[in-house]
Amino acid sequence: MSLQKTEKIWHNGKWIAWDEARIHVLSHVVNYGSAVFEGIRCYDTAQGPAIFRVREHMQRLVHSGHIYRMDAPFPAEDLSAAATELVRVNKLSACYIRPIILRGYGEMGVDPRGCPIEVYMACWEWGKYLGEEGLGNGIDVCVSSWNRPAPNTLPQMAKSAANYMNSQLIKMEARANGYTEGIGLDTNGYVAEGSGEHVFAVRDGSVITPPLAHAGLLGVTRDSVLTICGDLGIPVSEQAIPRELLYIADEVFFTGTAAEVTPIRSIDHVQIGAGARGPVTKRIQEEFFAITSGKKPDRHGWLTPVGVPSGAAVR
Ligand SMILES: Cc1ncc(COP(=O)(O)O)c(C=O)c1O
Repeated sequence: MSLQKTEKIWHNGKWIAWDEARIHVLSHVVNYGSAVFEGIRCYDTAQGPAIFRVREHMQRLVHSGHIYRMDAPFPAEDLSAAATELVRVNKLSACYIRPIILRGYGEMGVDPRGCPIEVYMACWEWGKYLGEEGLGNGIDVCVSSWNRPAPNTLPQMAKSAANYMNSQLIKMEARANGYTEGIGLDTNGYVAEGSGEHVFAVRDGSVITPPLAHAGLLGVTRDSVLTICGDLGIPVSEQAIPRELLYIADEVFFTGTAAEVTPIRSIDHVQIGAGARGPVTKRIQEEFFAITSGKKPDRHGWLTPVGVPSGAAVR
């Protein structure tokens, strides 16, 4: 998906033009992957553009930075305000928002402490990550030959750029073999997550997903889907999922900011359930989209309207 340029990017509390958002090739981040970031969706709701769970995303960003001793001089509330203004100044409705905290240009060497911490935030229009058709019919995925990182190697609770080197291996292998996406197992062979999604399975009307110790990232969409299951009276639990359980599940689906709620119709060419979006996935997906489109009340306070300028985002 090629990037569609917008007018402004937020940099350390100031607006800069899209084309001015440049860094030096010898920046620490370029050489050592030293960045943490977020992916956030803004939805075009019936009541105007609104950002989905912006506070939770910004809190996770701040936490990711803290794990890597990259404390940004902006609390989550200021970053949330900046995100709403960013969408407003770029005159977008539905879009994707990418805040990133990175180690910039200063010293060379593994020790990053001599390099400045920079915060950028951009947004652009972005369609359905795993395809519009996949949302209705389901996608074909594989279990990757690559595992997710072992505990106490690259911290998976931090959404760091470096983690996505592993995600890229999973994604490229899947695409090269004709699949839409790949599922990574953890180092014990249990289901962990997709290259950029969490995994859910449905058996006998109950929904299961791996616990945090296996799933890695504290997923915002994962949490939303667990809440929606509770609201809809669908039994849900977190449990370790052996690979083969996926093959005999009635339904399997992905969740994620980019992937939203995407059904999986086959894994490794093994048909899942009826080989189409299942009824439980459909109920959850419809509820998710009803809330994010503003057609159903935002009963959990997940949507932040972009609204009128607050002036809080720029110093
Ligand atoms: C590796 C990985 N797992 C899961 C997810 C889904 O998390 P969320 O729902 O917070 O977007 C993402 C996307 O952020 C991801 O990159």
